[in-house]
Order: sequence, then C-alpha cells, then structure tokens
Amino acid sequence: MRTIAISNQKGGCGKTTTAVNLAAAIAHRGLRTLIVDLDPQAHSTIGLGLNPDKLTETIYDVLTSAEIDLMQVVADTNIETLKLAPCNILLAGAELELTLVFGREFVLGEKLSQVSDQYDVCVIDCPPSLGMLTLNALVASTDIVVPVQVHYYAMEGLKQLLETVGIVRERFHPCSVKILGLLLTFVENRTNLSKQIRQQMREFFGSLVFETVVHRTVRLAEAPSAGESVITYAPKSKGAAEYMALAAEILNGASRASQEDKEDTEADDIQAKQAKEIDNGGQE
Ligand SMILES: Nc1ncnc2c1ncn2[C@@H]1O[C@H](COP(=O)(O)OP(=O)(O)O)[C@@H](O)[C@H]1O
Ligand SMILES: [Mg+2]
Repeated sequence: MRTIAISNQKGGCGKTTTAVNLAAAIAHRGLRTLIVDLDPQAHSTIGLGLNPDKLTETIYDVLTSAEIDLMQVVADTNIETLKLAPCNILLAGAELELTLVFGREFVLGEKLSQVSDQYDVCVIDCPPSLGMLTLNALVASTDIVVPVQVHYYAMEGLKQLLETVGIVRERFHPCSVKILGLLLTFVENRTNLSKQIRQQMREFFGSLVFETVVHRTVRLAEAPSAGESVITYAPKSKGAAEYMALAAEILNGASRASQEDKEDTEADDIQAKQAKEIDNGGQE
C-alpha cells in the first residue's frame, strides 16, 4: 500500500482540499483508496459527508486503544473505491495521549499495516502542526505531498517541514519516506505576484515542484458543503481536472516541469486554454 501524507504545518494552504480530491481522483481511477482524517478539525470527514459529532468510533479510538482495528471505523463514501477513516474533535486528545505510549511514533503505521492488503493507496490529511499526530503520519508514509499556497510568505515554514522530514528519515524510517512534491495551490493566472512566486518556487525547489498546479476556483471551495469531492460534485470543473492530473502525475510518475521556465509559461498557457474550454463546457 502506498501511503501519501498531505502535510504542511501552515493552516489554510489546501491540505484537506488536496487530501479529499486527490484521494477521490485516485479512487476514481479504480484504485482501492483509504483517506485517513488525522486533523481534529475533521474537515475531511465533513467534506465527505459525515457528521463528526455523530460518530461513535473514530481514528482516535484506533490510535488510543490497542484492541480497536482500523477496519472498525472505516466508512463508505459516494465513490465505491474510496473509504474514509473519520475523526472528530476528540482526536485532539490523542496528541497528548500518544506521548505516553511506548513506540508512540509508530502507532498509526502499525494500525495501517493491518489493512495494507485491502487498499492500494492511503492518503492522510494531516493537522496544521508538527506534533505527534503529524509525526505518526510521516512515519507511516511512503510519500509526502506538501501543498503550498502561492502567496508572499509561501516559503516560510517549508524549511522547518523539510527538517522534520529529514529527522523522520534518519530516526524512524530509514531512507524510505520522501517528499514526492510541492503542490502549488490557490494559483491565480491573472496576478503577477502569483506568477513570480511560482517561478521562485520552481527556481528554488526545481523538480520537487509538481507540474500540476491547483488554481483558486469556486467549485473547489463549494464541494465540501455538498459533502463530496469535486470529482463527483463537479466532474467537469477545472478543479476536478487539476486533481485528476495530479493523481496521474503521482501514479504515473510523469516528469516534472520546472527545468525550464519556458515550459512553465507554456504549461500556463495550455492550462489556461484547457480551463477556458472547460469553462465553456458550462461547469465553471
Ligand atoms: N484551489 C482552491 N480554490 C478555492 N478555494 C480553495 C482551494 N483550496 C482550498 N480552498 C478553500 O480554502 C480553505 C482552506 O483550504 P483547506 O484545504 O481546508 O486547507 P488546510 O487543510 O490546509 O487548512 C477551505 O475553505 C477550502 O475550501
Ligand atoms: Mg485541513
């Protein structure tokens, strides 16, 4: 089972949106996919149509009780191949409770290994911190996707995250977990600042930046209120196309742009053209 943590300690950079829609896009391709909601704010849980207050058993119980298996809390979604391990605010308590457990960094990984033959891909929506829950996610993962909101402070905090990943690799997970890529989110083609920052990120991080970028669009913001991913809520929208493209890039290991800025501008133009075509299709 490939396990992809969606992590960045910054809030509001598109982690949950990426976790839900990337997982849905992967599931849409027919792969058996599990999304684990590891942020006590429960936004993935809500965004996939569950009421956190009505859940009796959640990922919190899985992490804090040795006798509760992950399969016991897994719920269905409106995509047959996409299952959800939900949470609610109680999960906030696990941050502290886990620190008292022996092998505290490995609890999630051990629970996930029990279901590794039942899913092809697991996507973990991480909380906006580098605490015990995130550490558990990173230790349990094979890959990390870092959504980065394209704005002036985009680079801030990334160094800290990269250091944490380095520590995880050294101490807990020799050489296997890696940063799969930085995903630029909230991209706006119209603003120069957005363009400048994308260019900067690509100059600085090179091929670590995904070729796919996610634009700021209304459908992506709307989908959670319908309790579903954008893949089913607005399948023809630009947001759906972009997360499908990200899934393809991740699963096929498509080559990254960024070697040359020329490609960057070309990709921009193509994406803008595609978006326009999709918009004309009536969804956006
Ligand atoms: N590409 C996007 N376009 C428009 N709104 C977005 C986009 N990505 C995220 N949002 C909205 O921005 C807010 C923060 O995004 P979210 O994915 O919850 O970030 P995080 O999980 O990192 O806190 C949410 O209300 C979400 O619906
Ligand atoms: Mg979130």
